[in-house]
Amino acid sequence: MTATPTLTRTLPKRRLTGLKPTGHLHLGNLLGAIRPVVDAQYQAETIVFLADLHALTVAHEPARVRELTLEQATMLLAAGLDPDRAMLYVQSQLPEHTELHFLLECATGVGEAQRMIQFREQSTAQQHVRLSLLTYPVLMTADILLHDAEEVPVGEDQSQHLELARDVATRFNARYGETFTVPRAVHPEVATRVMELSDPTSKMGKTTSSDAGTIFLLDPPDVIRRKVMRAVTDSGRTVVYDPQTRPGPANLLEILSACVDAPPEVLAAEYSSYSKLKRAVAEAVEGLLRPIQLRHAELTRDPGFVRRVLAEGAERARDNATDTVHRAKRAIGLLT
Ligand code: TRP
Repeated sequence: MTATPTLTRTLPKRRLTGLKPTGHLHLGNLLGAIRPVVDAQYQAETIVFLADLHALTVAHEPARVRELTLEQATMLLAAGLDPDRAMLYVQSQLPEHTELHFLLECATGVGEAQRMIQFREQSTAQQHVRLSLLTYPVLMTADILLHDAEEVPVGEDQSQHLELARDVATRFNARYGETFTVPRAVHPEVATRVMELSDPTSKMGKTTSSDAGTIFLLDPPDVIRRKVMRAVTDSGRTVVYDPQTRPGPANLLEILSACVDAPPEVLAAEYSSYSKLKRAVAEAVEGLLRPIQLRHAELTRDPGFVRRVLAEGAERARDNATDTVHRAKRAIGLLT
């Protein structure tokens, strides 16, 4: 008899990503969120959903939410998300999200929700604050716990919400018995944090005041080139990679690095001036986006296909979601 070798098998983790349809997708979304998810879809069990309910927590236009939801779904498919492998659906098409949301509100404190930095920032900036903006992180918690997600890739701005999700899951389990998987935040190693071209100290897409510093995934080549050529740099005469003191050139080098798959320090040495670097960046970004735009155009000609993918995604997601809601209802005292 031969001894069975001990295999350290890493089981695929269940990973969940939510995208909020409040704007057109840009290069920061692609390199920071979409591409890492697409790249990992064959290693991890992948669930991606369009958080259209979250888009209703601030002033919104109904038609725009609908359009952006479809646009973002189409873009995810165009960027390579494989609907036979990953689950892709629209949040509002799976009512279990809101059902679980209410149950979790019964395990969350008002103070806990009020302490969320994003709520505080957004609510002071608005005249009429929707109640749903306060409970937003609880809905996000429901999104995550519904699927027993183990890993949630998040940026800095969502890490406090993820802490809340962990707290609520842990508390619910302690109070009512083991019900939910406690999720954890992951930061994909290959994700690139893209900054505004017009203000390299703020994250791309955050400053809504101008579109000049944001490269949208559907921008035509001449617009991309113009935006890149106008990117803010500094008075330096040589190209060096130093994110701390030279954020403008560093951002360009990181974008180029993500497109051509070479380290930014190495790339810095290849360009003798900012204008040469910018030309290379513009070309690389155009090259990166061209196939995605072509595929997007193809998919747009057949909206029935995208809708079918989304409907099937919701159907596949339903099994596990129903099971989770049942578990939670039983634990909290609604079912026997
Ligand atoms: N709040 C997230 C954002 O603004 C979107 C989101 C909603 C989400 N539900 C989620 C992200 C669940 C991860 C998991 O980007």
